[in-house]
Amino acid sequence: MVVQSLYGPVQQDMARVEAILSGIRDVEYGPLARMLSQVMGAGGKRVRPALALLAGTFRDYDLELLVPLAASIEVLHTATLVHDDVIDVAATRRGRATANALFSNAPSVMLGDFMFAHAAELVARTGNVRVIRLFARTLMRMATGELDQDVSAFDASKRIGDYLQRIGGKTASLLGTACEGGAIVSGAPEPWVEGLRDYGFNLGMAFQIVDDILDFTGNEEVMGKPVGGDLREGTLTLPSLLLLEDDPSRRNPVRRLFNARRGRERLLEDAIAAIHAADVLDRSKAMAREFGDRAAHAIAELPDSEAHRTLLHLIDHVLDRES
Ligand code: IPE
Ligand code: IPE
Ligand code: MG
Ligand code: MG
Repeated sequence: MVVQSLYGPVQQDMARVEAILSGIRDVEYGPLARMLSQVMGAGGKRVRPALALLAGTFRDYDLELLVPLAASIEVLHTATLVHDDVIDVAATRRGRATANALFSNAPSVMLGDFMFAHAAELVARTGNVRVIRLFARTLMRMATGELDQDVSAFDASKRIGDYLQRIGGKTASLLGTACEGGAIVSGAPEPWVEGLRDYGFNLGMAFQIVDDILDFTGNEEVMGKPVGGDLREGTLTLPSLLLLEDDPSRRNPVRRLFNARRGRERLLEDAIAAIHAADVLDRSKAMAREFGDRAAHAIAELPDSEAHRTLLHLIDHVLDRES
């Protein structure tokens, strides 16, 4: 995948992470092995494990610790996607049928649980209690963010502040943890640990805002997952929240959609057309750029290196990405 040439000095070492990831499907119980190979064999951009390795380059770049950490983060991420696809009723992911589409919801929930446990086992291999706690807390934050999204579906009273809080939990916290974890296990000094965490968190905010823009503008083939589902599922994201903020009246097409009992398909089309006609997608992109700037600023004091330049380059990639 083209993206992976972006991971600069850790590119080669990502193969060791991949080796762990592909070993995960080696379980005795046949049905589980089949499910694992369906979800683990599909690839993905591997942004989070690459971040963990890159953040680990600033002091002792010890692959014995960094590789299990990076793999753990990716397994945790993939498990949240398995559950997210159950919640969002999504049929495709990473260009393949989702677990819920193939095996139905109940086994997919258990599959996600198995993967969470596997991720915990991997992070324990670092032997670093601080990182293990960080991992546990991150999962708590992510679950809270996902829960909030589900609980507030079709609630037009939500504000941009609520949205930022939610994506901070469900997405940015994990990118922050990937970087913070890598910095901790490599023994980086505390100000660098903080800088790398803030870099990852802000990159994660930009990452999710761009994902939410792509839900309106993206191409399903390129993304490997359904687009256009957020409003249908009642999920307010930055573009629709900006539209609500601009015109809070009952005539607002998003509000009309959320309040409607009938004729939803037509109202959904109207709402999507209104989002495209307004300037809200551009303004969302500008906000993603602001988070990108914050990410760059967070690591400004770290020493210059190939990894440092790669981290900066990744910000541009996240902002311009189409998949
Ligand atoms: C998808 O994450 C979920 C979001 C946070 C938007 P990615 O876009 O990193 O998905 P993969 O891992 O590349 O499939
Ligand atoms: C991100 O939200 C999901 C997680 C962080 C678990 P989305 O629901 O927007 O992610 P996609 O679009 O399904 O990948
Ligand atoms: Mg989803
Ligand atoms: Mg999305």
